[in-house]
Amino acid sequence: MLNSKFLENKKKLNRLFFYGVPDLLLQRTPGIYPHFELLQPMIPCNAILRLSFLYISITFSVFILHAQDGKQLFSTKCASCHNIFKDLTGPKLGGVLEKEKYGGDPKKTYEWIRNSTSLVNSDPYYSALKNQWGSVMTAFPDLKDAEIDAIWDYINKTYAAGNKPKPAGDDTAKDDLKKANQNSVIFGIITLILAIIALILAYVNSNLKKMSDDAEGIIRPEPVPFYKNKFYIALLSVLLFVVGGYLLAKGAIGLGRQTNYQPEQPIYYSHKVHAGINQINCLYCHSSAWESKHASIPSVNVCMNCHKAIQAYEKGPEIIDENGNKIDGTAEIQKLYKYAGFDPKNAAKWDPSKAKPIEWVRIHNLPDHVYFNHAQHVRVGKIQCQTCHGEITNMHEVKQVSELSMGWCINCHRQTKVDFNYSEGKGNQFYSIYEKFHNEIKKGKMDSITVSHIGGLECQKCHY
Ligand code: HEC
Ligand code: HEC
Ligand code: HEC
Ligand code: HEC
Ligand code: HEC
Ligand code: HEC
Repeated sequence: MLNSKFLENKKKLNRLFFYGVPDLLLQRTPGIYPHFELLQPMIPCNAILRLSFLYISITFSVFILHAQDGKQLFSTKCASCHNIFKDLTGPKLGGVLEKEKYGGDPKKTYEWIRNSTSLVNSDPYYSALKNQWGSVMTAFPDLKDAEIDAIWDYINKTYAAGNKPKPAGDDTAKDDLKKANQNSVIFGIITLILAIIALILAYVNSNLKKMSDDAEGIIRPEPVPFYKNKFYIALLSVLLFVVGGYLLAKGAIGLGRQTNYQPEQPIYYSHKVHAGINQINCLYCHSSAWESKHASIPSVNVCMNCHKAIQAYEKGPEIIDENGNKIDGTAEIQKLYKYAGFDPKNAAKWDPSKAKPIEWVRIHNLPDHVYFNHAQHVRVGKIQCQTCHGEITNMHEVKQVSELSMGWCINCHRQTKVDFNYSEGKGNQFYSIYEKFHNEIKKGKMDSITVSHIGGLECQKCHY
């Protein structure tokens, strides 16, 4: 009775899962398919194993397909400098292969793409190109032949089809990003579905095991609870390893990066009182931001220009710090006097050369391998201090507002247009050297120039 019911069930299941589950049954019900049974020891018969294997191979092949996707490669590696239809930082790439140098053969560009820097020095064709374009192309030593072929394939097809990108250019990049996002959503859904199938199969598997055991009258020990099950333990360890590794790597990259950092300073000096309420110009104290790399911190003597006379804090509003404590401005000014060696009762005798420096705690700090220049941004780029440092005039104590990550710099360089609208004697003279771009604008070929066009994405501009 039990047996016939079991066989019926098994037939149904056989139709459903003709692959995978039934051979688990074979182990339990010897003799059903004798010839298959011989194979059993040789193949891993676990449905879950098999499914995971299938899933891994699918993902793997999708990744390989992905790597060969010329469009993807072009937009991640080349599109920041090249367009297929028009000149950007580098020449337009549509039709480049037709040049005599290449004779239509993508192979002849392999060396250039992988090793542009050395070719600029050794090959007269490329040194002429470099002189014409001003900047050297990034080298891509990791690109494989097949990948470069895929890029050219994409460029040639797009160029031949003449499907011009939308005028803004940026939209295509956004579209690609959208597609990439959609792709990852699809991957996520597939993963989820496969995971659910694996779980269902595992469940069916254990039930079948039980059924077949019942059928044979075998009494097995109680099933292992899932937290003791080796499979789940292994799965969990792998998951923990992957997630932990990811978080660790992310944390390591972010190491030394900080926002909202607001250390306690030796004197409670309020930017809101000085730069906000009393409207003292930032450059009065940070004058070197206008002419040099660093925005200096003012010396005690700069403070004393005013505080020889302003000996108490009485006009401004009550100052409450982050912890809700009331700050006594007058007492803070007394601390300044200690550093300055200044005695208010004996003001005439003050000797500025005896002043001791105040040990302000540094807040913004880029790693040593990054070059950042204030004058270049404040004076040439005409960027407000507040764009990068936030509403300093509203902060009592300064805190770091921007992330100061590489992505932060690069994003702004991609988006910010530089002011090219100068004419003789007017506007920003610093850009007069970029004759090429001025001509392009005059001819109407380009409507705006961003920092990235003038080299703001080149590694060596920001890295020593
Ligand atoms: C950082 C900007 C930049 C990136 C990224 C870049 N290029 Fe270039 N590329 C240039 C510049 C600039 C030139 C002109 C030569 C020079 O000044 O070095 C150039 C020249 C070329 C040339 C030679 C054109 C000719 O007329 O002979 C080819 C081919 C080329 N790039 C292909 C690529 C491909 C393919 C990629 C993506 C894998 C790529 N470039 C990525 C900036 C770039
Ligand atoms: C009266 C002098 C004075 C004026 C005016 C002033 N600052 Fe400051 N600034 C200081 C002093 C002193 C420090 C160091 C103590 C601190 O961090 O609060 C400082 C620190 C800073 C810092 C943090 C530096 C670090 O350690 O990374 C920034 C950013 C800054 N100022 C920006 C500005 C901006 C923007 C303005 C104009 C809105 C301005 N400051 C106006 C005196 C001044
Ligand atoms: C251009 C003039 C000027 C300079 C330079 C200046 N202060 Fe002041 N400071 C003022 C004024 C104005 C007040 C507000 C007085 C009031 O409201 O009664 C003030 C208030 C203060 C206070 C009390 C409020 C607070 O912020 O806690 C301190 C402390 C202080 N200053 C420290 C400094 C230090 C340190 C420096 C140098 C880095 C400096 N000041 C440079 C003009 C100046
Ligand atoms: C384009 C973004 C940007 C602008 C605009 C900018 N800063 Fe900065 N500032 C930074 C960065 C990044 C640092 C960290 C520099 C470092 O660690 O070398 C910094 C650091 C500072 C410091 C600490 C001392 C130093 O130079 O390292 C002060 C003070 C400062 N800025 C004041 C100013 C003032 C005042 C202005 C406006 C006149 C201004 N900044 C404009 C990005 C900017
Ligand atoms: C808010 C926008 C903004 C941010 C943020 C910014 N920059 Fe810039 N950067 C500019 C502008 C605008 C210019 C153009 C000024 C010029 O022509 O020299 C520029 C120019 C430069 C240049 C010179 C590029 C060239 O080709 O001459 C360097 C180097 C540079 N930035 C480094 C950095 C670094 C490093 C950071 C991050 C720590 C950064 N910038 C963050 C706007 C920004
Ligand atoms: C506009 C300026 C800028 C340009 C261009 C730039 N970097 Fe960076 N880079 C930075 C800044 C700022 C940091 C520091 C980030 C931090 O401390 O988190 C950085 C950090 C790095 C790091 C250290 C890892 C990290 O994320 O902290 C590497 C590696 C790096 N850059 C490589 C490159 C390469 C390769 C290029 C050229 C393709 C490049 N950078 C172009 C500004 C720039």
